[in-house]
Amino acid sequence: MIWFPYEQMKTMKAPYKIIDAEGVYLYTEDQKLIDSVSSWWSVIHGYKHPELNQAIETQLKKFAHVMLGGLTHESARKLSDKLQSWLPGDLDYCFFSDSGSVAVEVALKMALQYYMNREEMQRTMVLALEHAYHGDTFKTMEVGDDEDYHFVLKAYGESKNVVHIPTEIAALEQAFAEYHDRLNCFIVEPLLQGAGGMRMYDVSFLKRARELCDQYDVLLVFDEVATGFGRTGNRFVTDLVLPDILVLGKALTGGYIGHAVTVANRKVYEGFFDDAPSHALMHGPTFMSNALACSAALKSIEIFESQDYMGKIRKIEEITRREMEGFSDPRIKEIRMMGACVCIEVYDPGTIKGYQKFAYDRGVFSRPFLNYLYAMVPYVIQEEELVKVLNTMKHRCTRGTNEIK
Ligand SMILES: Cc1ncc(COP(=O)(O)O)c(C=O)c1O
Repeated sequence: MIWFPYEQMKTMKAPYKIIDAEGVYLYTEDQKLIDSVSSWWSVIHGYKHPELNQAIETQLKKFAHVMLGGLTHESARKLSDKLQSWLPGDLDYCFFSDSGSVAVEVALKMALQYYMNREEMQRTMVLALEHAYHGDTFKTMEVGDDEDYHFVLKAYGESKNVVHIPTEIAALEQAFAEYHDRLNCFIVEPLLQGAGGMRMYDVSFLKRARELCDQYDVLLVFDEVATGFGRTGNRFVTDLVLPDILVLGKALTGGYIGHAVTVANRKVYEGFFDDAPSHALMHGPTFMSNALACSAALKSIEIFESQDYMGKIRKIEEITRREMEGFSDPRIKEIRMMGACVCIEVYDPGTIKGYQKFAYDRGVFSRPFLNYLYAMVPYVIQEEELVKVLNTMKHRCTRGTNEIK
């Protein structure tokens, strides 16, 4: 049987069974649902996209997968070339893997080994943010900061290798003053912290982080697994502030096939590039640069570029701001909006209890968590569909409607 994620299997309610999906819609036996979550923020072009399907079918006729150990192939080369030219600065070196968590692990391993290769063995610490989420593997849990996802780590006690700070410049400066000679990297979800509660912060924090990383020779790592490909209203936050290592996942393949990439700049790459075999990056996921995933990613980027996706995202933000204008309720703590992400934070989780069913009955699929009701829609959504998603959220958070279970 299936063991479902983040669920107490004994008490979980039955999941909705999807029998078809097209555009922004998911279909169950009895309902047509706008996917307001884009399948965990990844399906930016919608489902059953003809060009993405075609790209995968074309690759499939050649081969689905070959390993990257001692072999290479055209789709992997084209994708790394594309990323190299598409990403800013000298973020040129693409290390592929099969999921966002693994790609973050690779980034953290790169940062640690970068200094080991220079024999700076004391740089074992990572600076990270409070409320951070970087995945569910062990090291990503350690740099993460969320009780709900990571409580199992309590078994090990307090980590000596990770320091968490709030997104405040004073705290940042303080942490660098105290730990700079022991840090190998500072890892952040830039501008938008997703699973930690759709928390948004200012770019000035990242700019200061860049300065401090330069001053103290600490690597800056941007985990753009969730924020990449336009979600914040920027193509990448990396376009605003340049990290040393960038991690992309989720929307990389348009949400078609699990794949991710850790992109290093020249400085990091050169920290591994010499005659010593022990200085090589000892990592190699079986499915890294899977040919179907690379073909989907290439096509996804082509669609993103050629069909003015940044314009679509601006429109989503504009509509969202318009629809949320003047909307408030005493039970709402804050409404946060950035790019194609909107979050209503309520004081009491009870306010949004039962929302998934409420939304289902109105033709919207949603997955609120804790105090957060959010939408991260596919970028191809039409205005009336987006308004429907937002109205459903607003309706639920307005006094007098929380009796609906
Ligand atoms: C910022 C961030 N990093 C990493 C991950 C982990 O990605 P994956 O679920 O593909 O392992 C996620 C997943 O939500 C994420 O939001």
